[in-house]
Amino acid sequence: MHIEENTLSIEDRLANEEIIELGDPLTDEYRDLLCGIIQFTANSEFMGAFTEREWIPRAPSYQRKLALIAKNQDEIGHAQMQYQLAENLGRDREEMLTSLLAGNTGFGNAFHYPADEWIDIGLLAWMLDGAAMQLQHSLMDTSYGPYARIMRRVCREEEFHIRHGEHIIREYATGSRAKRERLQAGVDRWWPRAVMFFGLSDDQSEKSKRMVELGIKPKSNDELRQQYFDTYVPKLRKYDIEIPDENFYYDDAAEKWQYTAPDWEEFNTIVSGNGPKTQQRLDRRRTAFEDTAWVREAMVAYNEDEKASRFTNSGSINTIN
Ligand SMILES: [Fe+2]
Ligand SMILES: [Fe+2]
Repeated sequence: MHIEENTLSIEDRLANEEIIELGDPLTDEYRDLLCGIIQFTANSEFMGAFTEREWIPRAPSYQRKLALIAKNQDEIGHAQMQYQLAENLGRDREEMLTSLLAGNTGFGNAFHYPADEWIDIGLLAWMLDGAAMQLQHSLMDTSYGPYARIMRRVCREEEFHIRHGEHIIREYATGSRAKRERLQAGVDRWWPRAVMFFGLSDDQSEKSKRMVELGIKPKSNDELRQQYFDTYVPKLRKYDIEIPDENFYYDDAAEKWQYTAPDWEEFNTIVSGNGPKTQQRLDRRRTAFEDTAWVREAMVAYNEDEKASRFTNSGSINTIN
């Protein structure tokens, strides 16, 4: 059987709604934008884990601790799978990790802020994993097949993270007056960050627009933000939580939610590495990276030994023959 080689350009293939697979010829633009978003989502999983793990020793009960450890392991796994994707596209893993530490590649805005109270951990899992889920769910339809398949697995695990977060929220929402106040104060802190999570509005972001045109991002920043409001406004109301934005309402005529424009200056400052906790978290990661250097070195040495002994063995077999 003769298989026709696909000679269409990537633009034509995307116009035909074809899925791009590993090994297909890519344009530099497609590869760069794709690797850019993969690295961003991988870094975010990674630094999200570094944010939440601060609470593992202080979780308020054994059950909460177990759930948090399991979530943390999932997040590191999500990061690994996505770094692997970028590696398969030609990026070097060590370089990706170094560039994260040097602040040359970014990660989600939420993980630059402190998580000083247990309710912050609940809200990160419920509201921020919930925001990330809008993006990840949409990426199940990205034009790059391997990324879409990984997102299917990631989303199944994220469902559990959101439920774990909601379980904490329910405990606070149905608890004492003090607990309900902590919950509302927490939402006051995290709501604007969740709104910002989706990035600049569509008219401000050329990069995001181009990613939508290339099918890398199936939905734009504003579409995802509106979808988040559709999902979370009823949830917040169910728990009697006020949305801390006096300009927030559903505009029937425009058929969309209206809200106070986020402070994009703050957003840009935060994501460029100047958040209140950015450097402290990167330092923790730096220490972990240095402390585990011996494991990587041992693996390289072991692999070299293996290679050398394979060579010697095959050499001796050749001599006998
Ligand atoms: Fe994750
Ligand atoms: Fe998660």
